[in-house]
Amino acid sequence: MTHVFTIAIDGPAGAGKGTLARRLADHYRLNLLDTGLTYRAVAYTLIQHALPLDNVSAAETAARQVDLAKLDRAVLSAHAVGEAASKVAVYPTVRRILVEKQRDFAKTPPGAVLDGRDIGTVVCPDADIKLYVTASAEVRAQRRLAEIESIGGTADFIEILADIVRRDERDMGRADSPLKPAADAHLLDTSEMAIEAAFLAAMAIIDDVLAKRDKA
Ligand code: C5P
Repeated sequence: MTHVFTIAIDGPAGAGKGTLARRLADHYRLNLLDTGLTYRAVAYTLIQHALPLDNVSAAETAARQVDLAKLDRAVLSAHAVGEAASKVAVYPTVRRILVEKQRDFAKTPPGAVLDGRDIGTVVCPDADIKLYVTASAEVRAQRRLAEIESIGGTADFIEILADIVRRDERDMGRADSPLKPAADAHLLDTSEMAIEAAFLAAMAIIDDVLAKRDKA
């Protein structure tokens, strides 16, 4: 059987995992899946149909309809959709449906970089490389503010920080698949690291694993 290569990237909202995942997928020529978009797609469907986010059976139906090839980042990236996604993501049945699709994606040759909250712990526990990317809540809030201002928007730092802390609590505190580093994950703290430095650090970790494997 051909070995598919899997890079699992987990971490809290705003730590820079998305950018890192994209850079690594380009560099190692792997498929890329931002699993957050799958939870966002479920939340978006409920919002579109004016359904409450705790309507579990509607969320399950929406989860079954998620098509990984049709995830529209432009539509799903709205802040409110992210908040809503973290609410539907607490339901184990919704997670099971999405995790199955994510695993199928990961199995497709030549392999993939997947980023999310539970990739190294639940979705791909046998991933070749596991990275846990983090940064302090203040740094993440500052980055988010800079991003909003760079496109001409305005926002309040304290409110952004409160949002981030609340989302962390929801993601780390849920009973099913809480956000936490896998025991064998490499930790990357990007608080004082630009994305380029984080990319180089991740590459060093991956190349080291690949070199050891070549020798074995
Ligand atoms: O990463 P992103 O902000 O797009 O994720 C939105 C929400 O989806 C997260 O706050 C989290 O609650 C949920 N999520 C998850 N498991 C994943 C990816 C995202 O529970 N693998």
